[in-house]
Amino acid sequence: MTAVTYELIKTCKQSGARLGRIHTPHGSIETPIFMPVGTLATVKTLSPEELEEMGSQIILSNTYHLWLRPGEDIIEEAGGLHSFMNWKKPILTDSGGFQVFSLSDLRDIKEEGVHFRNHISGEKLFLSPEKAMQIQNSLGSDIMMAFDECPPYPAERDYMKKSVERTSRWAERCLEAHKNTEKQAVFGIVQGGEYEDLRKQSAEDLISLDFPGYAVGGLSVGEPKDVMNKVLEFTTPLLPEEKPRYLMGVGSADSLIDGVIRGIDMFDCVLPTRVARNGTCMTSTGRVVVRNAKYARDFGPLDENCSCHVCRNYSRAYIRHLVKCNETFGFRLTSYHNLYFLLELMEQVRQAIREDRLLDFRDEVFEKYGFNKP
Ligand code: GUN
Ligand code: ZN
Repeated sequence: MTAVTYELIKTCKQSGARLGRIHTPHGSIETPIFMPVGTLATVKTLSPEELEEMGSQIILSNTYHLWLRPGEDIIEEAGGLHSFMNWKKPILTDSGGFQVFSLSDLRDIKEEGVHFRNHISGEKLFLSPEKAMQIQNSLGSDIMMAFDECPPYPAERDYMKKSVERTSRWAERCLEAHKNTEKQAVFGIVQGGEYEDLRKQSAEDLISLDFPGYAVGGLSVGEPKDVMNKVLEFTTPLLPEEKPRYLMGVGSADSLIDGVIRGIDMFDCVLPTRVARNGTCMTSTGRVVVRNAKYARDFGPLDENCSCHVCRNYSRAYIRHLVKCNETFGFRLTSYHNLYFLLELMEQVRQAIREDRLLDFRDEVFEKYGFNKP
């Protein structure tokens, strides 16, 4: 028995999308789900109490950042990441693979692991499948991610093939190094870029290792939207029905819906909280750049159709004023709204699956947003 299991409740008759439940040692999650990102053991500007109040069921944190600061030994001494940060629900940690590739410029990929420099101090560091598992075992996350390589887009086929094969060997080493199988699960990450046969090879390699869940990695790295959709169309059908599927690093409203339609159950992204700290709000009628002068005397809510605490109590004019003055409270309000908006969107997606009308729901949402239909 693994620490994390997936229960398929139903598939949408109109779209094939999945409604399910993931069971973890810290409770169950209704899927499809969006996971807010708390890189440094905090979802920036928000308290765990606020996250819970807005309906977050699971959050994501990062091995790489917590390893550097404060160090996984300190978090282990605190009783693990849940008690360190006072978040009682499930936590998923990314393995550090992606962060090494996106944050450090001096890196050297070898069979044993990756040599690179600390993006803060410049100190020489080494991360491997074994080290990534040891750190995540110390953090005590419910779902740990295998240590993978996320190649850039576009990448040459020859390079991609070598990278996929190495990621498969690393995945096997991750499972061997994993020490706490009773309380923590490891998910494999399918790579292969835009190449259908390499995605297939990657999926087959990882499926033979029998992970309790699979991520689709290497997307949202600058490829056009139709490439992402195509990759998902040929990748998710390769994955076992009885395991959860997680699309890494995707968090725009349109991509969430398009991912669910292609069989994805879980998503994470810094987008809603990152753009919030820039004064950009995600709303049912598209993005609202609240800094804009046209909102100076707009005393209405960020989103007419949102029932979050922020939209019920604060105006665009007030939030614009705070954001323009760099007041922390302004960024708290925009972050809260943006996360609530995506969590609520996913609740509506789950309801549309229950009612077998996800394609209709997609059309309605895209129409209101002004997104182009592909
Ligand atoms: N986050 C977004 N994409 C990826 C990926 O391909 N691998 C990992 N480990 N994390 C990611
Ligand atoms: Zn709101």
